[in-house]
Amino acid sequence: MDDLKAKYLTQIADAANEASLEDIRIAAVGKKGEVALKMRELGKMTPEERQVAGPALNALKDEINSAISAKKAALADAALDERLRSEWLDVTLPTRTQRRGTIHPISQVSEEVTAIFAEIGFSVAEGPRIDTDWYNFDALNIPGHHPARAEMDTFYMHRAEGDNRPPHVLRTHTSPVQIRSMEATGAPTRIICPGGVYRADYDQTHTPMFHQVEGLAIDKDISMANLKWVLEEFVKSYFEVDGVDLRFRASHFPFTEPSAEVDIRCSWEGGTLKVGEGDDWLEILGSGMVHPKVLEAGGIDPAEWQGFAFGMGIDRIAMLKYGVPDLRAFFDSDLRWLRHYGFAALDVPTLHGGLSR
Ligand code: PHE
Repeated sequence: MDDLKAKYLTQIADAANEASLEDIRIAAVGKKGEVALKMRELGKMTPEERQVAGPALNALKDEINSAISAKKAALADAALDERLRSEWLDVTLPTRTQRRGTIHPISQVSEEVTAIFAEIGFSVAEGPRIDTDWYNFDALNIPGHHPARAEMDTFYMHRAEGDNRPPHVLRTHTSPVQIRSMEATGAPTRIICPGGVYRADYDQTHTPMFHQVEGLAIDKDISMANLKWVLEEFVKSYFEVDGVDLRFRASHFPFTEPSAEVDIRCSWEGGTLKVGEGDDWLEILGSGMVHPKVLEAGGIDPAEWQGFAFGMGIDRIAMLKYGVPDLRAFFDSDLRWLRHYGFAALDVPTLHGGLSR
């Protein structure tokens, strides 16, 4: 028994890790371990011998078990010490002075737009970028044969044969969120929805993915005058000027009646885009009074409620404000461009703190 004890206590002391401790435990005090085998021999002993050997074997078993637990704890302590030695951090070091990442101008402008509209009582709504063609078209009074479907250069999601779910598209505008938020909250409502939209188009002022902010206000006695005031207030706040030349052009959208497109005065002289001067106009938004059929599709009674809606190009107004001549650069992920045009991470735009400082 003394030999057994000496053998296992040495092995336990020398064990390098928990796995070898477990092997030792099984060999020593496991069901078929050496101590168990010895216990079986008790049967062959005389009662006097057994009275001595039985308690001694039990004591040996207890001693081995507690040596194993103690060693386990010691191994864990040593592992922790080792981690504390190797994983250290000098919290007295100065912070890094070099900015690592920046906020993308589109994110920044989305925040600016949200801050301005929040101030005039609009909350933010969201909808999916992949939507059904019902939300993207039909509910907005664009039936299947309507030329607007083709004009929008829609990306359709692939459908396997026999798939009878409704067709899905990458939303071509944020207008489907009008319907979704009418369904969600009914009237009255005042929301904006900033987000990505998709059309198969690519040149200096078009990318296949771009950003819009939808606006929707529904109430009693809403008119084009309210729309015009809201847009003028927005443009003044956004460009941080007292006045900007806006041009309201009569236009046509299936989901608004009457409709207007709004351009902003700008110049492209020398390849730099400047807002508020020059003889050029850049279209920044489409707008109008929500068509009665659209209110109906959203579950709102057009005999009782009216509303205005607009869809503005976020990338467009970002180009204008921050002098970005080529829209495509927004999405090239060129680090030098991002460092130049990006914003510091803690530069959260607010109206009182200054939008773009
Ligand atoms: N959805 C239109 C577009 O993408 C813009 C728009 C929105 C026009 C709301 C009128 C009202 O061109």
